[in-house]
Amino acid sequence: MIAAVIEPPPGDLKLAQRTGQDAAAAAAADHAARHWVSDQAGPLRPGSEAHKLAVTRMFRETFNPYKPTIIDWPVLGDEERNRLISLPIWDIAVQTEGKARIRMLSYAYGLSDPAWREAIELNGWEEGRHKTVLSNLVAAYGITLEPEPAYPPPRNAEWAYLVTGFSECIDSFFAFGLFAMAQRSGFFPPELVDTFEPVMQEECRHILLFANWLAWHRRTIPWWRRVGFELRVAAAWVFLGWERIGLARGMDDGAGNKGKPQDNNFTVSGTKAVSNVDISIRELMELCLAENDRRFAGYDERLARPTTMPSLVRLACRFMRRPRPRDRTG
Ligand SMILES: [Fe+2]
Ligand SMILES: [Fe+2]
Repeated sequence: MIAAVIEPPPGDLKLAQRTGQDAAAAAAADHAARHWVSDQAGPLRPGSEAHKLAVTRMFRETFNPYKPTIIDWPVLGDEERNRLISLPIWDIAVQTEGKARIRMLSYAYGLSDPAWREAIELNGWEEGRHKTVLSNLVAAYGITLEPEPAYPPPRNAEWAYLVTGFSECIDSFFAFGLFAMAQRSGFFPPELVDTFEPVMQEECRHILLFANWLAWHRRTIPWWRRVGFELRVAAAWVFLGWERIGLARGMDDGAGNKGKPQDNNFTVSGTKAVSNVDISIRELMELCLAENDRRFAGYDERLARPTTMPSLVRLACRFMRRPRPRDRTG
């Protein structure tokens, strides 16, 4: 297993200096994100008031107050800068955060329950902060973006929230592994990679919130609405599957963008772009699984976890042969 050689995440102190964050606040936020346990005794049954309060409290208490607008972006050499500029992700990354923000905010604003509303609204706000981080990076390194589309509120807020939530579950799972590879490869300076550590952990926390909202919602909606809801969940997975294999590109927002080619599947095809480590698909999947477990390990184990991607990938690994040593040369 590759897990044994993964370095622990860097401390947030250096990052704190570069984001204008108070070092004590950064250390507290980092600690909370990796050691959060509800003081509620007993099981946290999905659908119960105790479960809802624990989840939403977790989200509030693990908030990281980093400030993206004053990040001091490191100077890159020509080779590093070219590598960064040529990643085929910048337009789609910025736009994905813009869409996630409006979709989460739209869903939150329609909720009558103040606890869920506050948590999902904060999630939407954090997506906007991710977009600011990416936009600032793009500006700092002179990366040219396509003109951004408008981000109108979705017509069906629940559908949009489901698609965004499951999409984050897929992308974050692979991003955890790629990020670990980027940390180990030295392809980019550690100061640049470290900047995204809180963003990565934040995405873990987002899909933790989503998985628990989903578990809570399933237990609390009336049975006659449950059937329609499960059909929407299934449709969201089908939609995302199509999108990932390129059949539904542009279908999502109806914008029909025909700009620079972007990579919807970068998270599974981008190992060569972030690292010079020769790694098989199976090893990459094992790394993603190990990183997924590590990032979730710090949250109360009574909370639900996203299970679909880890289960599918564990199953797929059983059918992938381990590379023999001689496969790894050349
Ligand atoms: Fe995000
Ligand atoms: Fe997110």
